[in-house]
Amino acid sequence: MLNLSKVSKSYGAVKALREVTVKIDRGSSVCVVGRSGCGKSTLLKIAGLILRPDAGTVSVNLVDVTEMRTSQRDDLQKVIGYSFQEPLLLPYLTALENVTVPFIKRTPFDSGEAGARILSDLGLADRLSHFPAKLSVGEKKRVDIARALLRRPECIVADEPLSNLDQKTSDRVMRILTDYKNQGSALLYSAVRESDADGADQVIRLG
Ligand SMILES: Nc1ncnc2c1ncn2[C@@H]1O[C@H](COP(=O)(O)OP(=O)(O)OP(=O)(O)O)[C@@H](O)[C@H]1O
Ligand SMILES: [Mg+2]
Repeated sequence: MLNLSKVSKSYGAVKALREVTVKIDRGSSVCVVGRSGCGKSTLLKIAGLILRPDAGTVSVNLVDVTEMRTSQRDDLQKVIGYSFQEPLLLPYLTALENVTVPFIKRTPFDSGEAGARILSDLGLADRLSHFPAKLSVGEKKRVDIARALLRRPECIVADEPLSNLDQKTSDRVMRILTDYKNQGSALLYSAVRESDADGADQVIRLG
């Protein structure tokens, strides 16, 4: 459902990505592994339609979005649940509200029931009404992941979802991401540690 073909991206003199190809179908997972600075976040942002490549093509459900206008891309963005490397939470919303209130355009409204269930699955049942300032880094990260999973997107793109977590919690997050994948979502995630790629169907090494 998501196809990146020979995508390249430079930031001025820094060549962040050179001709990288990624193909992910629903019900399968790809992990992008590589050292810090090798271009993982750049690749995931291109896959999440947040960033445009300098060269190469990006298509979602066989629709080529590479040259699309921003307003047209917005509709396609909605099929992708995106979790940022640095959790993007509003400080005056609780953990649950950060999952369910549509403050970024791709997040749909939710009664709170699904949000609370996902947060509980991620081990945050007793943190629903905590504000971000009262959450640990790993807890904030899981709130951001929960938002990406709300409404079961066709594609989940998660930037280092297993970083900053102890082994048990990391296993739990991976199990939940894999559950979504097994139920039909496409999953693209990144990792620094080689062992974090163990749960993926396919591994892409950058750098
Ligand atoms: N907006 C930007 N402007 C200039 N250079 C950038 C920008 N974003 C990233 N870079 C550079 O591009 C390279 C790839 O960055 P990217 O964030 O994709 O790496 P990464 O693999 O996600 O690293 P990390 O594991 O530390 O998150 C890095 O060398 C970085 O310094
Ligand atoms: Mg990164």
